[in-house]
Amino acid sequence: MPTILVTGGAGFIGANFILLARKLNWANVVNLDKLTYASNLNNLAALRTDNSYHFIQGDINNFELVSYILEKYQPDAVINFAAESHVDRSIFSPQDFIQTNVIGTFQLLEASRFYWQKLSEQQQKEFRFLHISTDEVYGSLTPTAPAFKENTPYSPNSPYAASKASSDHFVRAYYHTYGLPTLTTNCSNNYGPMQFPEKLIPLIILNAINSQPLPIYGDGQNIRDWLYVIDHCQAIYLVLKQGKIGDTYNIGGLNEQTNLTVVKKICAILDELIPIADFSYSSLITFVKDRPGHDRRYAIDCQKISEELGWFPQENFDSGLTKTVQWYLNNPAWVEQVRSRNYQAWLQQNYENR
Ligand code: NAD
Ligand code: DAU
Repeated sequence: MPTILVTGGAGFIGANFILLARKLNWANVVNLDKLTYASNLNNLAALRTDNSYHFIQGDINNFELVSYILEKYQPDAVINFAAESHVDRSIFSPQDFIQTNVIGTFQLLEASRFYWQKLSEQQQKEFRFLHISTDEVYGSLTPTAPAFKENTPYSPNSPYAASKASSDHFVRAYYHTYGLPTLTTNCSNNYGPMQFPEKLIPLIILNAINSQPLPIYGDGQNIRDWLYVIDHCQAIYLVLKQGKIGDTYNIGGLNEQTNLTVVKKICAILDELIPIADFSYSSLITFVKDRPGHDRRYAIDCQKISEELGWFPQENFDSGLTKTVQWYLNNPAWVEQVRSRNYQAWLQQNYENR
């Protein structure tokens, strides 16, 4: 069985990926994570006794540590999920995003290149560096514009998107300059279990069950293309196994929704699952000041991955959203632990003056 070095595996998508990789015996996994506010080792509690899973706390900026891990575990692939991932936080503190997303990715590429150059010819051919990126690098679409394709020009609008765009360019450069066998995936908004509640869907679920206002930026007509996290993880694995080196693959949910629609759907699910007499959760909806530079619409054209690798999103939005709401209702200890750390300070910083 191959060994994969996963970075950022204690976060939302990385943890879902690792759990699936171990469940389906895709690979032995070494997880390098700095354990920032967005991480949660409880996400991976099920692997405590799994000898094919190893966790190391550390920073992708630490070239020596990454080099040591590569030498020790001799992975067949690196998958880079590690990032500062939240647009609103990138508006308050862009520097963290440059440090991890740009410089951290560069350090990881450098360590991987030195490791890769020492492998046998056959191992070099088989090695992969898969970088997880975002549709936000392509900028914002008008209502009728065609969805983002792999060759859509980059046009990032937030510090987060600019930092991810920069990291994508470094990955590309390492393939073209050094021949490092890289792959990049650009995906749309993920949702599902274990997402940190600074992102729209978990924030709305938790605010609603705590009878807090449900903040909608601007007019609520911004559009995102929602992708169930397990569908995303399956796509990542396919790209890793069968993707053409040096290429990028767009991954989307074929599921464009306005923010207002998403929030109303969550409210309808909660009205069904935990009803309160003479009350709808939608009465908590509150329109607040818009996000600066708020991208209006994202949509992914995933024809390439569908045609080349046979991948299609499997989850239907209504059932995926219901499963997600149910997961937060069924995991009060997880929720409590997340909410009791620095989360309250974040809510104050982001929402107090809106
Ligand atoms: P997340 O914020 O939930 O998790 C990020 C993880 O990276 C955390 O565990 C954190 O501790 C770790 N990390 C941060 N800085 C690190 C560093 N310097 N060294 C090591 N670990 C570090 O993010 P996510 O939502 O799981 O996103 C994973 C990746 O997917 C990111 O690269 C993100 O840009 C990309 N992405 C996310 C979405 C989405 O909707 N969530 C969509 C498109 C792309
Ligand atoms: O498109 C992929 C990107 O999706 C990823 O690259 C990012 O890592 C991820 O954070 C996400 O970015 P968004 O900015 O789209 O996600 P967020 O959940 O923060 O917001 C989704 C939409 O909801 C966006 O239009 C802003 C809006 N929003 C968000 C919050 C937190 C609100 O209206 N109210 C809120 O309180």
